[in-house]
Amino acid sequence: MVSPLVALTPKVQSAIAAALGDDFREADPVLRPSQFADVQVNAALALAKKVGMPPRDVAAKIVAALDLDGVCDSVEVSGPGFINLTFSSAWIAGLLQEVEADARAGVALQPTQNIPIDYSAPNVAKEMHVGHLRTTVVGDSIARTLEHLGHNVIRQNHIGDWGTPFGMLIEHLLDVGEGSDEAGLLITDPNAFYQAARVKFDAAEKAEPAGSAGDFNVRARSRVVLLQAGDPETLRLWNELVDLSKVYFNKLYATLGVTLTDLHLAGESMYNDALPGICEELESRGIAEVSDGALCVFLDGYTGREGKPVPLIIRKSDGGYGYATTDLATIKYRVHDLGAHRVLYVIGAPQSLHLNMVWDTARKAGWLPDDVVPVHVQIGNVLGEDRKILKTRSGAPLRLMALLEEAVDKARAVIDETRPDLDEPLRATIARQIGIGAVKYADLSVAHDSEYVFDLDRMVALTGNTGPYLQYVVARIRSIFRQVGLDPAAQHAPILLGEPHERALATHLLGFGDVVAEVGDTYEPHRLAGYLFELAQAFSAFYENCPVLKAEHDEVKESRLTLCALVFRVMTTGLDLLGLESPEQM
Ligand code: ARG
Repeated sequence: MVSPLVALTPKVQSAIAAALGDDFREADPVLRPSQFADVQVNAALALAKKVGMPPRDVAAKIVAALDLDGVCDSVEVSGPGFINLTFSSAWIAGLLQEVEADARAGVALQPTQNIPIDYSAPNVAKEMHVGHLRTTVVGDSIARTLEHLGHNVIRQNHIGDWGTPFGMLIEHLLDVGEGSDEAGLLITDPNAFYQAARVKFDAAEKAEPAGSAGDFNVRARSRVVLLQAGDPETLRLWNELVDLSKVYFNKLYATLGVTLTDLHLAGESMYNDALPGICEELESRGIAEVSDGALCVFLDGYTGREGKPVPLIIRKSDGGYGYATTDLATIKYRVHDLGAHRVLYVIGAPQSLHLNMVWDTARKAGWLPDDVVPVHVQIGNVLGEDRKILKTRSGAPLRLMALLEEAVDKARAVIDETRPDLDEPLRATIARQIGIGAVKYADLSVAHDSEYVFDLDRMVALTGNTGPYLQYVVARIRSIFRQVGLDPAAQHAPILLGEPHERALATHLLGFGDVVAEVGDTYEPHRLAGYLFELAQAFSAFYENCPVLKAEHDEVKESRLTLCALVFRVMTTGLDLLGLESPEQM
């Protein structure tokens, strides 16, 4: 099964070769969607120079050689030399019938690759911020899509579970007492826990004379040493912190409906044992050198102000390892142990320099072969109304759980207003599905590296390019089938495309397979979101103009029900790839 553009390509290519000679057999026909027809062939404009003819004449020659019997109703040269193609409805119907018969609705399986994908990656004992929300949502959609395309997706949640703050956090845990309410903050309000530790530490550091505010800072420092030395009691306390944080992460993941579980945790601490070896190997092979007491890798092409080389520091002068060393061990693991064909990092845009230096170092060391592609899926900022990074109105750090609760409350207000007839538990379920869906869709419907302003009222609206607008299409089709006591999954009839709105809907449905493949190639879920939004619009236009249950003929009714059932299948599959649920009713 092929999409119209794929089906057309060889036909137009052979027409070009017939019109201009065999040298042009490989020429790109430059097929584009068009406002005036179904497709525009733009090749004549590019080829005109090469063959030394006016583009309109080239277009005319190609048209003369085009054999589109049974495919197009109209072929016209327009403007400076575009060729406008209008498909015959019967051809569209035939292609759509194949998609309809395909259990995968036109999404072709790809040869399986191993694809580790690093996303979410919050930090232990800290609140997830909106940036983490966005990498979680975008990463999860990419993971779902690659899996649907047939790949072996290996989720890697690279949580920040190691480093010097753990000395301070462990001492604070001991001060408040394991199992205390304050320790419980790690689950409900991790920043409150972190800040309390930080305040004590800073006060002790700044105290004059030293020690007059207690020895918390001294204890924190020796605790770091114990942690690094693998002291069993310290490790137990560290585990306790990580476990409490996991409860917090998992609550958020469950609320969001993302696919991450404990099985996908692959935090920084996992690489501890590998770090000395990484440094030794790079140093002994002359890839790293000691500079000002720190072990550094200097790479070509990374210079700062005044052309000074920027180092990748892999061992600090105090002997400690950092984020870069861990990421070197990480890529080695992903390539070597996980057998990666591609490695995806869904991480904030500002980390691009860091990642590129890590990858270049890994290449130099031979840990990242040329045929393994590392990709940074850059995540942009989420802004508040003031166009600064989103905080609460008071300027305090935002609690993500509170934000999600607010979204569900707003969705609840919307559904209470539109569907007071539904019973209370059902309205609660729908509110959760559309409130969470709304927040996720806002992250997914814009390019992942762009900034956008977080506006809950707009996100939960039932109209416009919103999650709920798409979910509404699903609910509407369910209700059509409920009315006649039929199951959309069992609806298969010959497709007839008599009306322009049926034809437009059918043409759009043919594009599903291509758009899903595109998301797999570009890591841009917003392309799928845009496709589904247009599908929702095409469906609404169809539904307003073409009676389904009251169609004049039985065959037309059956055909329209089949179109509805296919929209339902494509929309629920598409929403699922984005990570949105499909409500029963709305
Ligand atoms: N924990 C980091 C943060 O919150 C993100 C880690 C991303 N992954 C990685 N392999 N560096 O910014």
